[in-house]
Amino acid sequence: MKYLIVYAHPNPKSFNHAILETISEELRKKKRDFTVRDLYKISFDPALSAKDLSAIQDGAVPKDIKREQHYISKADILIVIFPIWWSAMPAMLKGYIDRVFSLKFAYDITETEVVGLLRDKKVFLISTTGASKEDYEKMGAFKMMNMAMDTAIFQFSGMKVIGHKYFSSVPYVSQQDRKKMLQELKLLVREKLL
Ligand SMILES: Cc1cc2nc3c(=O)[nH]c(=O)nc-3n(C[C@H](O)[C@H](O)[C@H](O)COP(=O)(O)O)c2cc1C
Repeated sequence: MKYLIVYAHPNPKSFNHAILETISEELRKKKRDFTVRDLYKISFDPALSAKDLSAIQDGAVPKDIKREQHYISKADILIVIFPIWWSAMPAMLKGYIDRVFSLKFAYDITETEVVGLLRDKKVFLISTTGASKEDYEKMGAFKMMNMAMDTAIFQFSGMKVIGHKYFSSVPYVSQQDRKKMLQELKLLVREKLL
């Protein structure tokens, strides 16, 4: 079983980075084969350009996109870690999806339907919010975000979504509560991913 962690947070001191470290440690302890793509660290270019679009159309996928597609192709399980910004994923991660989840790689269009091509893969998403769980539940925000991300991107591409874990109120909770969150995460990893 091969894992690919796609990580999108610019700050190595963030709670998201602690999530990345916690998961990496769990996988390492179990001697699992995993790769991390830290999108800010590798300075991934998130802007899908006119040049990209025509190259993809011609089947001449640009090298940096191909590299990321190769990592996905080799993986059985994707773990995607990111903060919620403006009730969505950061533009860096959205740009990765725009460019890497391209036509003929993530999906194809037949005469009658659109088909997901990544059907042999599973995905687990982990996000943090500033908003409280109660506020986001009241707003219907989790439902909206799950629809926009889990369903409209990952399921659309054929993947099985194992789950989407949200850690809420992250900037406002105590250090003690953050430790508890990371403990909860460890159990979740053991239960759902190992
Ligand atoms: C540009 C930006 C937009 C944000 N938008 C939201 C939002 O829409 N909803 C929310 O709950 N938190 C929002 N936040 C707060 C972050 O989600 C929160 O600070 C982060 O998840 C905490 O984790 P971190 O310490 O790893 O950054 C936003 C933060 C930034 C920087």
